[in-house]
Amino acid sequence: MENFTYCTPTRYIFGTGAENSAGAEATATGITKALIVYGGGSAVRSGVLGRVRGSLSDAGIESVELGGIEPNPLDGPVRTGIDMCRNNGIDGIIAVGGGSVIDTAKAIALGVPYPGDFWDFYAGKATPAVALPVGVVLTIPAAGSEGSGNSVITLSEGKIKISLRTDFVLRPKFALLNPELTFTLPPYQTASGIADMMAHIMERYFTPTPDVEITDRVSEGILKAIIAEAPKVMANPNDYQARANIMWSGTLAHNGICGTGRKEDWASHAIEHEISAMYNVTHGAGLAVIFPAWMTFMAGREPGKIAQFARRVFDVTTTDTTAAAMEGIQCLKSFFGSIGLPVTFAELCLDNPDIPEMVRRLHINKGEVIGGYLPLRAEDTAEIYRLAL
Ligand code: NZQ
Ligand code: ZN
Repeated sequence: MENFTYCTPTRYIFGTGAENSAGAEATATGITKALIVYGGGSAVRSGVLGRVRGSLSDAGIESVELGGIEPNPLDGPVRTGIDMCRNNGIDGIIAVGGGSVIDTAKAIALGVPYPGDFWDFYAGKATPAVALPVGVVLTIPAAGSEGSGNSVITLSEGKIKISLRTDFVLRPKFALLNPELTFTLPPYQTASGIADMMAHIMERYFTPTPDVEITDRVSEGILKAIIAEAPKVMANPNDYQARANIMWSGTLAHNGICGTGRKEDWASHAIEHEISAMYNVTHGAGLAVIFPAWMTFMAGREPGKIAQFARRVFDVTTTDTTAAAMEGIQCLKSFFGSIGLPVTFAELCLDNPDIPEMVRRLHINKGEVIGGYLPLRAEDTAEIYRLAL
């Protein structure tokens, strides 16, 4: 196990009616005037936006609103939000939604006190040091942004999708998690969220660092819980207990606990981000296609940890290491298929993805070599895209 620092300062309030704590939590955070950020309408239809607005108002907090944030969020609304904050004396941001909304809120929070263009942080030209406080009311368990220090934004010009990673600056001050808010999720979004949270664990699980039994076992436990609860939420979207287990899994998958003491991988995310940037597919669905392809590539080169995953997560009993790894990959694909997810480009409705262009962009945006499990160069990532056809 490697040395590490682990700090997850977000205050989580979990359960029925959690969104009604928005006012009290914002007050405790020192927010006096808030920007509420939300998406394309689900938060309006479900009534959660109104309850958050009311809770803030009851606490004496004025608010202005920025709605219409789309999946795979773009830089345009971030710039609008920064202007709104500056023009209205906003001192905190409340995100009501999923990863796209939260990541937009985080980008705005970073941009407000910064004199230059907020994209400088994503382009690696500036280092995040200060940001307005962000609070979250989560409506979809998936991206894990409610507990992460990351923000993923796409620059419209050139469709450059970048994940900005910070240790602390962009971690939400509080996150309100009410599983009932997820009852209205369409099945495809529920399933895509499940694939994304599993990927967040697996990006950390597939590591070259030896002797990480504790983080391995924590990771395997969460993965097994997700696999057990997923069919329940797909069969009955109003199953509170199953929704609650999936919601908390999504946070634990990405708040850093599964990565402590080890090198992480993140190649599959980098490879997927080029797909969702170019073709605007749902991030989790893209990962359901790419992760098994990445594992197949690795099974031929470094199968040990893939076989361990197969044995411990899917109870594969085959003794040969490579055969066990391949069986585990098949189990993962079957699981994704069972909850209605694509596992090939064709199933993702992309019959002819432009692989050379994705590879080109990937290595311009993320570097010549990517990945922590085994380093990948352009010829490797091209093969992984091809394995996903
Ligand atoms: O826009 P609305 O109408 O709200 O609809 C959304 C959207 O269409 C809908 N939705 C959300 N909650 C709902 C609901 N529909 C009905 N009922 C509800 N309760 O779901 C759709 C997807 O929303 P989105 O926020 O895009 O989902 P997700 O949480 O999967 O976020 C995806 C984004 O997060 C990034 C992804 O790349 C992608 O851009 N990621 C962010 C990460 C981070 N910040 O740490 C890590 C991840 O790896 C990921 O890359
Ligand atoms: Zn993800």
